[in-house]
Amino acid sequence: MNVLIVGNGGREHALAWKLLQCARVNRVFVAPGNAGTATDAENVDISMEDFDRLVKFAKQNSVGLTVVGPEAPLCAGIVDVFQDAGLRVFGPTKNAAQLEGSKVFCKNLLRNADVPTADYRVFRDADSAARYIKDRYPSLEEDVPVVVKADGLAAGKGAIVCRRRKDALDAIERIARKREFGDAGNQLVIEERLDGHEASVLAITDGRTILTLSPAQDHKAAHDGDKGPNTGGMGAYSPTPLLNDEQIRWVEEHVLVPTVHTMKRMRIPFRGVLYAGLMMTNQGPKVLEYNVRFGDPECQPILMRLKTDLAAVLEATVEGRLDEIGALEWDPRPAVCVVMASEGYPGPYEKGKAIRGLDDAAQLPDVKVFHAGTTMVGGQVVTTGGRVLGVTALGSSIPAAKLQAYRAVKCIRWEGAWCRKDISDKALEYGTGG
Ligand code: AMP
Ligand code: GLY
Repeated sequence: MNVLIVGNGGREHALAWKLLQCARVNRVFVAPGNAGTATDAENVDISMEDFDRLVKFAKQNSVGLTVVGPEAPLCAGIVDVFQDAGLRVFGPTKNAAQLEGSKVFCKNLLRNADVPTADYRVFRDADSAARYIKDRYPSLEEDVPVVVKADGLAAGKGAIVCRRRKDALDAIERIARKREFGDAGNQLVIEERLDGHEASVLAITDGRTILTLSPAQDHKAAHDGDKGPNTGGMGAYSPTPLLNDEQIRWVEEHVLVPTVHTMKRMRIPFRGVLYAGLMMTNQGPKVLEYNVRFGDPECQPILMRLKTDLAAVLEATVEGRLDEIGALEWDPRPAVCVVMASEGYPGPYEKGKAIRGLDDAAQLPDVKVFHAGTTMVGGQVVTTGGRVLGVTALGSSIPAAKLQAYRAVKCIRWEGAWCRKDISDKALEYGTGG
């Protein structure tokens, strides 16, 4: 079977690398891909927005399974277009992808399904949202524990965590009046700010059976100690001791199962990856958000540890027979992924810097360097994005995996390259009991 992967990041490189190890997989194409997928798989020069050309390519190249990486094409309905063309495709339909594409849809669903989440209110305009904040928090001095969110997709920047009244009013201005996120700001969610540590629990579901993946933790802030602006994710590790087996079962029972059942009851069956972004609060885990795809960079350490044949799992999902797969098998060793980024990221950054040392890093045992923002220019790998590489390693413990990942990071250099130095250190705070 030939496989087509849609996307160009570290997640898609990890998917390509893993799928190439699967028994039934012959060729893996990635559209549009990066320098890493060009080396390990085959790149196809088609934009991920051009669904018609992607369908045509899949038909002409005997693609038996298409796997969609990022949320934008999913929310724009790529799965519906492939299904209408009679092609097998892994991911939720446009309707089901609203779970990520609309915070209002997601929050209403969580309420209907009785899934623990922050209390919230929905607003359609800036005036009513601002009035609510002023009425509820009349004093300028008090803590205003809210998060203001744009309804639609905003590249991870649409959730603004507030401390003061001014923060909340500014956030409302930015989203609903200045329209910083365009139409994503047509509606606003104002929700209670939760405190705790964040964890990512991803599951694969065919709409009936749910297979939960080993839990992971992302590092969203740019700098060590979770300081600085938010990014797409500067590193991740798996498994995380934030959730023990009992807590994972609790999340399955109180979060994943009711969500999947409620979607089914609403006649919007969900197939694909259901990724719960959780806040581990004093009152137990609560859902901050759903994503409808593998997390990036969580996908990299998770897939590095997965032993079960991924293609078989994805095919079974598409065919609605995930119950035949049984429990997933994992390498017991943890994996740590350190993201190397361009100078300036998450702000503006220069592109086209030559990357050296990739071969040296590849020599190290238990290491895989996944490419994200890279491209090949005349035989040389150069930077083309903010998040450039996801250097991932396995180890006998989380500190050992971390050490090995940073050993590989040391081999790699380009002008302005940087990374966080503390990826996975948080795991040590949590101990092993969760
Ligand atoms: P979202 O776009 O909903 O995933 O939110 C992005 C990030 O904002 C999350 O990963 C959290 O760090 C933060 N966040 C979102 N909602 C809340 C909340 N209710 N309380 C505290 N932090 C939140
Ligand atoms: N790592 C967070 C995300 O993929 O949205």
